[in-house]
Amino acid sequence: MPHIAIRNLNVQCGDHQILKDVNCDIPDGCIVAIVGPSGCGKTTLLKSLNRLLDLNEDAKIQGQVLLDGSDIYGESSDVLSLRKKVGFMAQRPYPLPMSIQDNVSFGPKIHGLPDTSHGMVERYLRLAGLWEEVKDRLDSPAAKLSIGQQQRLALARTLAVEPEVILADEPTSALDPISVKIVEHQFRLLKSQYTIVLVTHILRQARRLADHVIFMYSGELVEQGPAESFFAAPKDERTRAYLSGEIS
Ligand SMILES: Nc1ncnc2c1ncn2[C@@H]1O[C@H](COP(=O)(O)OP(=O)(O)OP(=O)(O)O)[C@@H](O)[C@H]1O
Ligand SMILES: [Mg+2]
Repeated sequence: MPHIAIRNLNVQCGDHQILKDVNCDIPDGCIVAIVGPSGCGKTTLLKSLNRLLDLNEDAKIQGQVLLDGSDIYGESSDVLSLRKKVGFMAQRPYPLPMSIQDNVSFGPKIHGLPDTSHGMVERYLRLAGLWEEVKDRLDSPAAKLSIGQQQRLALARTLAVEPEVILADEPTSALDPISVKIVEHQFRLLKSQYTIVLVTHILRQARRLADHVIFMYSGELVEQGPAESFFAAPKDERTRAYLSGEIS
């Protein structure tokens, strides 16, 4: 069974059909990249996977998103526990106005997890590749960190609530090249234990990271497949045009 199965997903805002009958399976233990031109619906698709679209009152959502076989839009679905299972990393970090340490333990406390100890904070800062840089100043405000460090703190915060799935919307687009490398490296290390869905408009990043690629164009899922065959032998003319830079 795929970890996430998207079935006939349609999203409409006002008169605008943003996602058009999207169908795909997302397996676990790998990185799935969603690529496509600006405005094609990548962020919308990603947000549909943990019901962040619900925050948008005029969004009309039809279809199913099955997580471990049960529909996250079904009547018995609980949004809070869904968001714990399916974490979201935004394009820019938004540290909470508190210390580095408290940023990491905040989520586990909110969700009532048993371990909010210093050891837990260290574990997730290590997993996010940030520990060595902050271990001597855990009590200082998170806002003092560089943007690249704040984004890794955001990753630590996401991991600390023990999700199964990590959704990341262009998580490196605001970062310097060295921070990009570190975040990409952490994603590679993490993928065996999580399902990672990454939106990126940087094709080179998708080539570096993705095991599986989804190409969106104008709200449609045009093509999907293992990264190797997707890049080497795209089937659809639109995919070919996108990969060759004719459409961007
Ligand atoms: N709340 C909304 N109301 C109406 N239209 C919206 C809304 N949110 C997004 N859209 C439109 O839906 C389309 C898809 O938006 P989305 O943000 O998913 O694209 P994207 O692929 O993530 O683009 P980018 O690469 O620029 O981030 C765009 O045309 C956008 O203008
Ligand atoms: Mg977007």
